[in-house]
Amino acid sequence: MIDEYLADVRESVNQQFLNIIKSDSQVSKAMLHTVLAPSKCIRAGIVRAAAELEGILNKESINNLETAVEAMHSYSLIHDDLPAMDDDNIRRGQDSNHIVYGEATAILAGDALHSLAYEIVVNDPYLSVEHKVNIVKSLSDACGFNGMILGQQLDLESEGSDFGDINKIHSLKTGRLISASLALPIANSKLRVKLKTIGEDIGLAFQIMDDVLESSLSTATLGKDAGSDIKNKKLTYVSVYGLESAIKTAEELIDQSKSKIIGLDGSFNKNRLIEICDFIISRDK
Ligand code: IPE
Ligand code: IPE
Ligand code: MG
Ligand code: MG
Repeated sequence: MIDEYLADVRESVNQQFLNIIKSDSQVSKAMLHTVLAPSKCIRAGIVRAAAELEGILNKESINNLETAVEAMHSYSLIHDDLPAMDDDNIRRGQDSNHIVYGEATAILAGDALHSLAYEIVVNDPYLSVEHKVNIVKSLSDACGFNGMILGQQLDLESEGSDFGDINKIHSLKTGRLISASLALPIANSKLRVKLKTIGEDIGLAFQIMDDVLESSLSTATLGKDAGSDIKNKKLTYVSVYGLESAIKTAEELIDQSKSKIIGLDGSFNKNRLIEICDFIISRDK
């Protein structure tokens, strides 16, 4: 069920990328290389499930927001794989962006996807101006120098160290965009704040499971280098707390999040979001 849901999300996100990125310049090809590659589209799935929970946005706007968060996420992955960062050659089961297009074009493709995320939101013809401003604020807070970028910086600084606040690193580098994905389709400001808080736990659980899967699965299954964290001597949830304890923490965070979603007051369509929560801890890549 959830697999079909995410496959459907992925198809509409891919189509929207193809509608928007039309030129055949090198940088456009590089952008498409990463955004169209096989991915889980979990952030877009979270956007859709949150939008369906409230039931206010139309399909076009939901698709735009799904595509915007995936553009932001893909930019972060292209830069994350660069030699100056994690130096990883495989992403989404294929050569990383800089392996195919070279470092300079990969940097530019990432930059362009970052801008594209905002362009897509601003160009939406249906969302109110107030909602658009909120979305741009959520995305920039989540991904800027006090959000994802700070998380990435702290992640780099943690290399080779036994110390560092792993909860902070994970919450910032991954949790913030996932939390924003849950909040930004919501029109009601009180509900938006509640979902943002729930999303922080879901996002932390997601990154804990990313550490767990990387330490347990092969490169072929993951579609990315299973030895990356070890190679870079990263501080991970598994290196700090051990495998069992990491899994237990992720499960607890997801249980708490599900209870909070179930407890939301109002006639909401909560099932999809609950399924996505379950998928985050049961996924196998
Ligand atoms: C990988 O994200 C990077 C993290 C922030 C953990 P995903 O596991 O969602 O990667 P894709 O989008 O499915 O490739
Ligand atoms: C990626 O984290 C986080 C961002 C891109 C913001 P990781 O470096 O741990 O994720 P993978 O293992 O490369 O997907
Ligand atoms: Mg990294
Ligand atoms: Mg990485």
